[in-house]
Amino acid sequence: MPISPARIAAFEILIRIESTDAYASELLHASRFSRLSPADHRLLMEIGMGVLRWRSLLDETIRPHSSQPLAKLDLEVLTSLRMGVYQLLFLDRIPQYAAIDESVELTKRVRKRSAAGFVNAVLRKIAKETPRSRKLDPCLAHPQWLVERWTRHFGVPAAQAICAYDQTARAPSLRISNSAVVEQLRRDGVELQPGRLVSNAFIVRAGDVTQTSAFRERRFALQDEASQLIALLGGNGRALLDCCAAPGGKTAAIATALPDAQIFATEIHPHRARVLRQMAPQANVQVLAADARQLPFGADFDRVLADGPCSGTGTLARNPEIKWRLKPEDISDLQQRQIAILSSALKHVAPGGRLVYSTCSLEAEENEEVLKAALRENAEFEVLPMEQELAKVKNSGVLVWPDIENLVSERFLRTIPGVHPCEGFFGAILEKK
Ligand SMILES: C[S@@+](CC[C@H](N)C(=O)[O-])C[C@H]1O[C@@H](n2cnc3c(N)ncnc32)[C@H](O)[C@@H]1O
Repeated sequence: MPISPARIAAFEILIRIESTDAYASELLHASRFSRLSPADHRLLMEIGMGVLRWRSLLDETIRPHSSQPLAKLDLEVLTSLRMGVYQLLFLDRIPQYAAIDESVELTKRVRKRSAAGFVNAVLRKIAKETPRSRKLDPCLAHPQWLVERWTRHFGVPAAQAICAYDQTARAPSLRISNSAVVEQLRRDGVELQPGRLVSNAFIVRAGDVTQTSAFRERRFALQDEASQLIALLGGNGRALLDCCAAPGGKTAAIATALPDAQIFATEIHPHRARVLRQMAPQANVQVLAADARQLPFGADFDRVLADGPCSGTGTLARNPEIKWRLKPEDISDLQQRQIAILSSALKHVAPGGRLVYSTCSLEAEENEEVLKAALRENAEFEVLPMEQELAKVKNSGVLVWPDIENLVSERFLRTIPGVHPCEGFFGAILEKK
């Protein structure tokens, strides 16, 4: 029986994600899958992201029906099972026989013929015994240590809101700075709704933006609303440094908002610096592959953005694989790198200039605690009260969210997925006296 191209692609991507440090968001949009029909591409996204989002609950469903401990199964066999169970439990439109048979065929396709009977037997038992319409708790599809952390820091309702947000496919969010592009997309059949946080944001309600000429011409960017807001926090400047800049969403947003500013965008990995160049092609952006801790600059910039590497726990709806990879001890490793990057970035701020420190992490160790550590050594900086800074952005008409107070925690910007209609970001503005 031929296997659908969407399932073959989902299978390959899931194996790659489990066996390397690749990201789903990059693999699922890779150009080699652009030849899939729109229906196949939707199925690929549904199965690929669904399996990653619900992996722990899929495994719990498989476990009692498997004669072998799951840790002993070949990754290919376990992946076929996860894909089959996901379709059985979540995709009403797919007949049970198709979900089972295609997983069996996937197992055979990768020369695991001896396991095909096992996959068939396990999936048939699950199909018979597990009701489709069970209500599943989104928190159980997260590592317990993460849920406990969020409950401690934000309370039970917010922790539940984060988990529910993470488990739902999100409509793409666009940054569009030209109303002609909005019209062009609408003419191409894309249904847009204004964003809720910032005025340049639009949420896609229907249509495939990647099939439009505006997408091919890079006339808009796919960018979460909270990320767009972070890019605005620095305000006006003439000489800007974005020291951890790839893939370049914020660099491009700043370059468009401030066409007269000179922007240096640096990134440690040369291959990511190349992506950054493509994402931020504006003439006022100069890209440099360099380590933010050893930049060849002095205190030359009136605006600096340090949007450093982080755990990404605010982006699990888009990057669900992160929750299965992350370990509690990674957070303190990241903190050390973040302190080093922030301390170096502070050296490049001119007197009277500002630095924005941001992450897409929900964890205080990567946010407030990094700031505290860096400020201990840099007493000439002060944290500006975020409420006042956001009021300025609101007065300029760019921030459209009605309740500024609700975006602020102490002196910082803090968005929480599910509590706010966007990813979880942290932002602080420091000014050099
Ligand atoms: C959170 S991402 C930045 C996202 C980016 N600002 C955007 O809006 O698209 C962090 C980036 O910093 C890079 N990075 C990590 N360590 C770095 C360092 N020491 N110097 C420069 N870049 C670094 C990572 O490779 C990654 O591309």
